[in-house]
Amino acid sequence: MTDPSLAIPLTFAEIDLGALAQNCRLLKQHIGPEVLLMAVVKANAYGHGAVEVARAALANGAGHLAVARFEEGVHLREAGIDAPILVMNYTLLANVDTGIDHDLTLTVTDLPVIERVSHYAGQVGKVAQVHVKIDTGMGRYGLLPDEVVSFFEQAAPYPHIEIQGLFSHFAVSDLADKAYTWQQFEIFERVSDALRAAGFQVPICHIANSAAALDLPAMHLDAVRVGIAMYGLHPSDEVDPAVPVQPVLTLKSTVARVRTLPAGTSISYGRTYITPQAMPVALVPVGYGDGYPRILSNRGAVLINGQRAPIVGRVCMDQFVVDISDCSPVALEDEVVLVGKQQGARISAEEVASWANTINYEITTGLLPRVRRVFV
Ligand SMILES: Cc1ncc(COP(=O)(O)O)c(C=O)c1O
Repeated sequence: MTDPSLAIPLTFAEIDLGALAQNCRLLKQHIGPEVLLMAVVKANAYGHGAVEVARAALANGAGHLAVARFEEGVHLREAGIDAPILVMNYTLLANVDTGIDHDLTLTVTDLPVIERVSHYAGQVGKVAQVHVKIDTGMGRYGLLPDEVVSFFEQAAPYPHIEIQGLFSHFAVSDLADKAYTWQQFEIFERVSDALRAAGFQVPICHIANSAAALDLPAMHLDAVRVGIAMYGLHPSDEVDPAVPVQPVLTLKSTVARVRTLPAGTSISYGRTYITPQAMPVALVPVGYGDGYPRILSNRGAVLINGQRAPIVGRVCMDQFVVDISDCSPVALEDEVVLVGKQQGARISAEEVASWANTINYEITTGLLPRVRRVFV
């Protein structure tokens, strides 16, 4: 019997690790040798494949990795990655021991977690490194600025824990107006000064995401946490594209049927599209079961033969239909590009996001496991 995992996929995401490597090198050059590049590989590396991306990033200038959840860090360790991995969000008390077993750098904002970390690290003969997150204006996770010094004082007596990092996150660094971002940065600086005055030295202070890494060199501090720019995508169209990064992901499929429908034919569920005249159409085997948004029904387009083919009718779980009037001749098993370049034409993740009323982050991150990642 043949191995089904070797079958050629109908629909797949081609991940250009060469582009990713080059993006990392350019970003590292941009931030300079003194600043640590932390590669943000949470959510399966924004849909690109966490293990492969992490390896390529580490080989091309990144020194640390950052994930959102403890399980994501464990997954990277199990794949043999031994670089420092920061878990940026809350880790359940019940998972602290496993986190320490895997040498994950946990983020702590609560005393019970400090107690658990120090207790277990002591049992296994380690000093666990942790980072403290502060909320400078995101209104989400983190200690409030006034709580930070006393938190450090409460943590200080615990012998098997070392606070290696202090970090925060920007709410609107991707806007042209940087006033609020400067406010957040100043709060962060005030907290770091207060810690120093109280006798606490934190080796790695970090606050910049991609937008600030690109646009706000004064905010690079000791490390930058770069996600979207590493994938060659723009944090927003208001951020200076200071570094010529290239998109890493191309979403591809294959024409699964070609035919001409007579005038008056209704297409797909809900009969939302009726052909106004005889129309050549192709079937594209991609749907919301792949993470391709259903809201693209009658709105999106794909590339076939380097030409745009608009989606007609609803996007279903596994397939949709496109009008190929401008793409002929189209043959069975021709290549379809849903995100990326084909013969000089391009549909960017940003453009797909605009059709779907969302952001480029969600387009790549939303791709489900059924879409095989093919690394080139
Ligand atoms: C805490 C934190 N830091 C850094 C990042 C990376 O942001 P970006 O992808 O905009 O670089 C994220 C992503 O959402 C985040 O949640």
